[in-house]
Amino acid sequence: MDDNKKTLYSAVQPTNNLTIGNYIGAIRNFLALQTDYNCYFAIANMHAITVRQNPAELRQRTLSLLALYIACGLNPESTAIYVQSHVSAHAELCWVLNTFTYVGEMERMTQFKDKSAKHADNINMGLMDYPVLMAADILLYQTDVVPVGLDQRQHVEIARDIAQRFNNVYTPTFKVPEALYMKVGAKICDLLDPTKKMSKSAENINGSVFLSDDKDTIIRKFKRAVTDSDTLIKYDPENKAGVSNLLSIYSAFTGKSIAEAEADFAGKGYGEFKLAVGEAVADKLVPIQAEQAKLLADKEYLNSVMKSGAERANYTARKTLSKVYKKIGFYQF
Ligand code: TYM
Repeated sequence: MDDNKKTLYSAVQPTNNLTIGNYIGAIRNFLALQTDYNCYFAIANMHAITVRQNPAELRQRTLSLLALYIACGLNPESTAIYVQSHVSAHAELCWVLNTFTYVGEMERMTQFKDKSAKHADNINMGLMDYPVLMAADILLYQTDVVPVGLDQRQHVEIARDIAQRFNNVYTPTFKVPEALYMKVGAKICDLLDPTKKMSKSAENINGSVFLSDDKDTIIRKFKRAVTDSDTLIKYDPENKAGVSNLLSIYSAFTGKSIAEAEADFAGKGYGEFKLAVGEAVADKLVPIQAEQAKLLADKEYLNSVMKSGAERANYTARKTLSKVYKKIGFYQF
């Protein structure tokens, strides 16, 4: 790790199938930023179990996400890619930070309320504690920036509050992190209901495009995307949510600005537009999928990446944890 660089931290949960929302809102930005920062990219399997998981699937999805990170272009030589449960400091710091977090704050978290409604039969303590574990993730690495989608804004804010609270009670211990959102794509919406976030666990799978979808499926889903009764291809999220969402996706997958994307489709019809967006997405995803499959066949390599990532993460995490234990009065020998 380079002492002159700032630190970047982010994570993705290995749950369900990842969507192009995860790619655009998070992974794409990891790629763009990985050379400018010292990076830690985690596979958040401890967060994943706050909703009941099938154990065999969780194990497989952990490997799949690791392979996906690399297939997308994250460099395991220069960044620390690791599995959250391999670094026990996350659970340990979470426990300490729990004593700096109020129950009322956690009850008010939007995602807790949403997930409680969705999983009414399993509103477990982990679900409520989810933001504190996320704060522990971020704060362990003295993180400067956290690139995430907009749905994670509240969680990064609470991590900042907890850091400041701890720093005020003791002496400065944690760096106070900043969330980093991209101008375009911080909230990719469902293709069938563009007022809703595109989600891994959407009820109708046709509204979400999964990173594992094949070309035909991708094209079919985009052809069915909801637009409006107008004919203009213009970025106007308030009045033209569907069209604007498609323009954001196109821009993210082609690297073109929104203005360039609008120019590409000036005078064209919605049918042609939707097909072109689908093709841009498929053109990018198909090679990533092939690379991911290749990597998944080499488990030894993936294990070695995981191991060295965990070692690097553990080194930094332990340093912070030891500082915290000292401040709060835990006897260390
Ligand atoms: P997860 O797995 O739910 O989402 C991973 C990332 O994808 C972003 N995202 C989106 N961005 C734009 N449009 C969408 N429709 C969309 N859907 C998802 C999320 O904002 C996120 O950045 N709690 C985190 C995982 C986590 C984490 C952390 C993140 C655990 N510890 C520490 C940052 C720092 C999450 O929601 O993952």
